[in-house]
Amino acid sequence: MEIKGTTRVCGLIGNPVCHSISPLIHNELAKLMEIDMAYVTFKVENGSILSAVSGAYDLNVLGLNVTVPYKQDVIKGLCDIDELALKINAVNTLVRTDSGYKGYNTDILGLKRELDEAGISLSGKCVVILGAGGASRAITFLCASEGAQEVYILNRTTDRAQALADDVNKALNVQKVYAKSLDFANDIPKKGYIVIQTTSVGLYPNCDDIPVENMKFYENASAGVDIIYNPAQTAFMKRMKACGKPAYNGLKMLLYQAVAAFELWNDLKVPDDVTDKVYYKMKKAMKIDE
Ligand code: ATR
Repeated sequence: MEIKGTTRVCGLIGNPVCHSISPLIHNELAKLMEIDMAYVTFKVENGSILSAVSGAYDLNVLGLNVTVPYKQDVIKGLCDIDELALKINAVNTLVRTDSGYKGYNTDILGLKRELDEAGISLSGKCVVILGAGGASRAITFLCASEGAQEVYILNRTTDRAQALADDVNKALNVQKVYAKSLDFANDIPKKGYIVIQTTSVGLYPNCDDIPVENMKFYENASAGVDIIYNPAQTAFMKRMKACGKPAYNGLKMLLYQAVAAFELWNDLKVPDDVTDKVYYKMKKAMKIDE
């Protein structure tokens, strides 16, 4: 692609950012969609997030993604925020407006699209979420707001799960998110639940690690999503599949959150064949053979 005087800049702010695959996704999207845009990473040091956002606006940056550790802190630098992102209290996409950046959470849109595509409906379902960290937050909100009947957050540190459950129940005015320890995996009251694995257990290079050992937990589930994509087949996914249940990794979620951000920045719809091409390119870059 050719950088010209007219080329608009988008980028990723966070720390660290240098291993991100987002530049590959967005620059490929720009190329295939013939959009005059370039995407780069900006490492932002601790304490500088608000000056970084205001500087980016002054430099006419079109849009930004936000990653760890700034998804909450960035909110103070916005002129407006999407309703769901406000409830989640986490923003991963800034869209330029006339008066500043508006914040969105496209992580949640990414997971929703991955689930829809896999034919997994949350409505009326029992959902078990493993983990209560940053990634679990948007996912718990999605599950509770998409009509899950009950949501169990199972976490090594139960207090952290409890704080998240309280936040979600309060923000959505419901009483259906429950905090439990990982041991509760043996006691889920209903069968056929959907499991979403958000812990860092099983992440490369600890590929044999699994957050819940008990085979019965997997036998009683109906489907599983692991938000990890490296390795492409986690121990969690292998265990699900060994029990005859469908299991998905987090690569599509990563792709779809980026596509949703690209669409917001450029006010367009990316066709499915373009998304498929970018997915292929991502897998190639990450040496994933599926
Ligand atoms: P992220 O933003 O990716 O969610 P995080 O906020 O550090 O990352 O959260 C990591 C999650 O993995 C947490 O739920 C963490 O459990 P704790 O809240 O108890 O720390 C979970 N986790 C990490 N290592 C774990 C391990 N060895 N066993 C069980 N859970 C683990």
